[in-house]
Amino acid sequence: MDFKHKPVLAAEAIFWLNCSPGGVYIDCTLGGGGHARAILEKILPGGYLVGIDRDPAALDAARRHLAPFKESVSIVQGNFRDLNSIIAPLKLGKIDGIIFDFGVSSFQLESPARGFSYQLDGPLDMRMDPQQEKKASHLVNGLSEEKLTHIIRQYGEERWAARIAQFIVKARRSKPLETTAELVEVIKAAIPAGVRRGGPHPARRTFQALRIAVNDELDSISQALKAAVGVLSPGGRVCAISFHSLEDRIVKQTFRDLARECICPPEFPVCVCEQEPQLEILTRRPVRPSIGELQENPRARSAKLRAGAKIAAVLKREVGE
Ligand SMILES: C[S@@+](CC[C@H](N)C(=O)[O-])C[C@H]1O[C@@H](n2cnc3c(N)ncnc32)[C@H](O)[C@@H]1O
Repeated sequence: MDFKHKPVLAAEAIFWLNCSPGGVYIDCTLGGGGHARAILEKILPGGYLVGIDRDPAALDAARRHLAPFKESVSIVQGNFRDLNSIIAPLKLGKIDGIIFDFGVSSFQLESPARGFSYQLDGPLDMRMDPQQEKKASHLVNGLSEEKLTHIIRQYGEERWAARIAQFIVKARRSKPLETTAELVEVIKAAIPAGVRRGGPHPARRTFQALRIAVNDELDSISQALKAAVGVLSPGGRVCAISFHSLEDRIVKQTFRDLARECICPPEFPVCVCEQEPQLEILTRRPVRPSIGELQENPRARSAKLRAGAKIAAVLKREVGE
């Protein structure tokens, strides 16, 4: 299967990453290499790009897509939460920009065997890294009703979470749920027909929730953004594209924390933390796709981009002295 994935907010990402010839960049969510290729086209000659993804199928696709640039690219399989240890052996010297484009790619969604899609029948898998043990089927057939409710409510923001969990538990008593189509049928039965009519696909939120839980998606975002800002060169840019409010909330809050001058509890009369802001937030509001992009790529509709620049802490202190 060809890797079909249009990079979202690509022109905006290039702008906020401030890409120019000779730059060194890391793409923490390489996917099929759409953003990476757009970056490479701006940073050559002299530039270098490291691409990271936890999905080996995505890396294969990226290798093909980036073949013309192969002298200027390193492709590494890994989880972006391990950014520091992934890049340490590469001895990059300086890092001018790091991009995150969270979530799943169209390629993953459209491969039935990966089990991400509620529209295609396949095994209940949903792993980004196929070497990981935990699959969606383990959660659907193994978790208690309370835990399932919590996951579907928390990560899917689904108001029918309790009913869906109840129906899953009832269905699996006769036989474990093994396929995406079986799960979709159970979800449809759980959501009242009147509610289902007219809204988005009834399984959309539950599938999002399970996918996030299988891949521990949210837990690593804040840690990875902090690591990214930690390794950037002064003035270097970080750019994060999110696709739902849960991701965007974490990006916004982490950027705020990194931009704060003081992290002392509010009841402290004087500051004792000696915290220095590490990030200047460049996008006061998230950047959204243009109408033109939305017409070409409806998948971009919920995308939000936030960008920041690493503050040159040492320089700042010297100037202040
Ligand atoms: C939206 S796609 C990126 C598409 C890419 N920007 C492009 O233009 O082709 C997100 C990618 O991030 C990967 N991914 C998600 N979470 C990850 C993590 N914690 N570590 C590494 N890769 C991750 C997924 O496997 C997927 O390939």
